[in-house]
Formats: sequence, C-alpha cells, structure tokens
Amino acid sequence: MEKQREQWGSRMGFVFAAAGSAIGLGNIWRFPTVAGRNGGGAFVLLYLLIIMAIGIPVMISELSVGRKGQKSIVGSFLSIKNSPLWFLVGMMGVMSGFLILSFYSVIAGWGVSYIFNFLTGTFAAGVTPDEAATVFEGLVSNPVTPIFWHLIFMGLTGFIVFKGIAGGIEKYSKLLMPALFVLLVILAIRAITLPGAMEGVVWFLRPDISEISIQTVLASLGQVFFSLSLGMGAILTYGSYLSKKEDIPGNALIISLADLSIAILAGFIIMPAVFAFGLEPSVGPSLIFITLPSVFGSMYMGNVFGFLFFVLLSIAALTSSISLLEVVVAYFIDEKKWDRKKAVVVIGAVIFLLGIPVSLSQGGITIANIDFLDVFDTITSKLFLPLGGLMTVIFVGWVWGGQNVLAHIRQEGVKFKLGSAWLFLVKFILPLVLAYILISGFLG
Ligand code: TRP
Repeated sequence: MEKQREQWGSRMGFVFAAAGSAIGLGNIWRFPTVAGRNGGGAFVLLYLLIIMAIGIPVMISELSVGRKGQKSIVGSFLSIKNSPLWFLVGMMGVMSGFLILSFYSVIAGWGVSYIFNFLTGTFAAGVTPDEAATVFEGLVSNPVTPIFWHLIFMGLTGFIVFKGIAGGIEKYSKLLMPALFVLLVILAIRAITLPGAMEGVVWFLRPDISEISIQTVLASLGQVFFSLSLGMGAILTYGSYLSKKEDIPGNALIISLADLSIAILAGFIIMPAVFAFGLEPSVGPSLIFITLPSVFGSMYMGNVFGFLFFVLLSIAALTSSISLLEVVVAYFIDEKKWDRKKAVVVIGAVIFLLGIPVSLSQGGITIANIDFLDVFDTITSKLFLPLGGLMTVIFVGWVWGGQNVLAHIRQEGVKFKLGSAWLFLVKFILPLVLAYILISGFLG
C-alpha cells in the first residue's frame, strides 16, 4: 500500500507556511529595488492593482490545482489532464525552482554574512557609503567566502525540508514568521521616526502616472509573481498538502494581503532611511547591502538595528527558500519515487553547485561575461513565471473546466461569493492580459 501523503497540521500552519513562502527577499530586497528603479509611488500603485486583479486569482487557481491533484506540480497537472504539453508546463516549474533557488540562496548568503559583520563590528559607527561599498565588493568578489555562506544557507534550507511538511516547513514557519513580524515593526518605527524620513514616505506613496510604461507594467507583473511565489508551482505544491475542508479563496486573500503589507512595511523601513541620509533610492540591488549599512552606521545604536535587519532578511529568505526547494523535492518524491531524504540531499547539492557560477559571476569571474544572477532572475521572473501563470489560468479555465473547479472549491460547504467573477477573469481576461503583457514586454 502507498504511504499516506503528508498534510498540514492546521490551517494556521498552512497560512504561516504559505505567507512565509511569499514573504522573502522579494519583499525586502527586490520590492524596494524595483520600485526605486520604476518611479516609486507609480510602481507601488500598479503593484497593488496587479495583486488584486491578477495575483489573487492566480493564487486561487494554483491552490486548487494542487489540492485536486494531490501531487507535485507535474503530477498534479497530469492527474487532471495527461498530455505532453502539461508535462512541459510542469517541468518549467521544476526548472524555475532550480534556477531561482540557485541565485536566491547566494543573495540570502550575503544577508547571513552581514549578520556577522554587524556582530563583529565590520561596519563601525560612521561608516560612509564608500566604505560600505568596499566591504560589499570585497565580499562578492571573493571567490570563496560568499560560496561558504551560500552553502550554510542551503544547509539550513535542506535541514527544514528534510523534516517534512508538518514537522519541518510548518513547524519552522510558525516559529519564524512571528519573529519576522516583530523585527519589521521595530525597524519600521525606527526608520519613520528619523528626521527627514517623510520625504521617503512621500516618494514611496505618491504616484506619478507619467512614469508608467509597458516596461513598468511588466516589471510590476514579474514582481507580483515573484513576491507571491506564483507561476512555478510553489503555492500549487503547498496546496497539495491541504485538506478538502480548507477555504481556498479565503486563504489566498489572507496570504496575498500579508505579503503586500510586508512589502509596504519594508518600503517604509528602507525609503525613509535612504532619504533621511540623502542617498539615492534607485541604485538597484546594492541598496540593501551598501546603502543601508551606511544608514545604520550614522544612526544611534546602528549596529543593533543593522544586526536586527539582517536577521530579519535571513529569516524571510529561509521561509521562502524552503518552498522553492519543496517544489523540486516534491517532484522527485511523487514522480520518481525517491524518499524525502535522498531528494533533499541530491537536489540540495545540485542547487548548491548551480549557485557557484552565480556567486563567481558577481565578482567578475564569468563565462563569456554572463552575469548568471541577472540572467537567471530575468528568465524566471520575466518569462517562466508569467508564462507559468498564463498556462495555469488556461488550464483551470479551459482544460480542467471552470464549473469543475468551482465545484472543487465549493465542496464541503466552502463559500466563494465572487466565484463567477473569478471564473470570468480566469477564463477570458487573464489569458489575454498575461499574453499581451508577456509579448509586448518582450517586443518593447
Ligand atoms: N516569494 C519569495 C520572495 O518574495 C520567493 C519565492 C519563493 C518564489 N517561492 C517562489 C518566487 C516561487 C517565485 C516562485 O522572496
């Protein structure tokens, strides 16, 4: 007899785990960065609209496919419709898991190393942006140190996934997410009360519609997919461990709103601090690793806040990286009949190895001048994730069939008042909108 499939221990546990997956580097590192490069408030407004109109409906679709299929992304698609196309769509998700986690873990590793920088006083009080840049460049251009931290981070990720769903992912998410929230609130209060912080708040919230272009739209869409963990089966896989009694639309709403609030809260930590110290918000990824340390350096008790910030960043990254690893691990458990231990060790090792060129290319050691971080990030967030989302809504609306999905969601008396509106979106509007944004984003 087959072993019974694992399940979440409680609804709360599932919500913490899924919110933990969503809330990550995407909120704290990528959101302020992308907003900074795409005009601040205008981007934030667009982001909000896209979460409501696209993010939540896609999340409902993914959770439903997973819970119906009760398998990994590939198995779940195939159990509803067995065809080569849906096998490929599933495999694109598994591929994305490898690619995203390989660079995600490298960046998270930088974050972990910064915890120690603040503990050991590498960033002394009064550190200037130039000095902070030297520290950062010294780190990323070192061929060994960042790979060591990447290994530590992958080890932690593997350890939790190794322990399984209820005993690993759920247990640690329930522990880490409340800690994350407390840290965020402390840091946001500190940032907003800095003199001159208001300028950052205003820049972050005031939309200038003229800044919106098709590139801004594609960037926001990519950010929504990345931040909500959509388009590659992470949420689908988490949904496959859900019981039939769970309210999918209600949970999707809670998870998305939690993710959105944390992204905005993170913006409230970073932007006021950046403006209060007269720094530039659109510098890109180094915002967190160069600009912030110098902000902390000029702050009373800055080392303590710096330390707390990077603990926060690492916790957020860890509850996300476990969901990325789980997508791939679940595939090998369900389709290849590996046991969990073997899957975690083998796949963890492969992703660790894939992260090595990513890390080296940050320090200028590249093959054919390729920046692997940028390439992996771009192919996944601008192509694989939106394409995966597009295929998922087509699958739900047209292949599985709208009425069947609604019946699945509404079983055991779950209410879904907006069911027909959701179905209309998923069947007719989202396929067109997603295809349009994908195509024009690429041409434009
Ligand atoms: N959502 C996470 C973040 O914001 C990253 C992440 C986890 C992810 N699982 C994912 C991104 C699946 C895309 C797909 O940091």
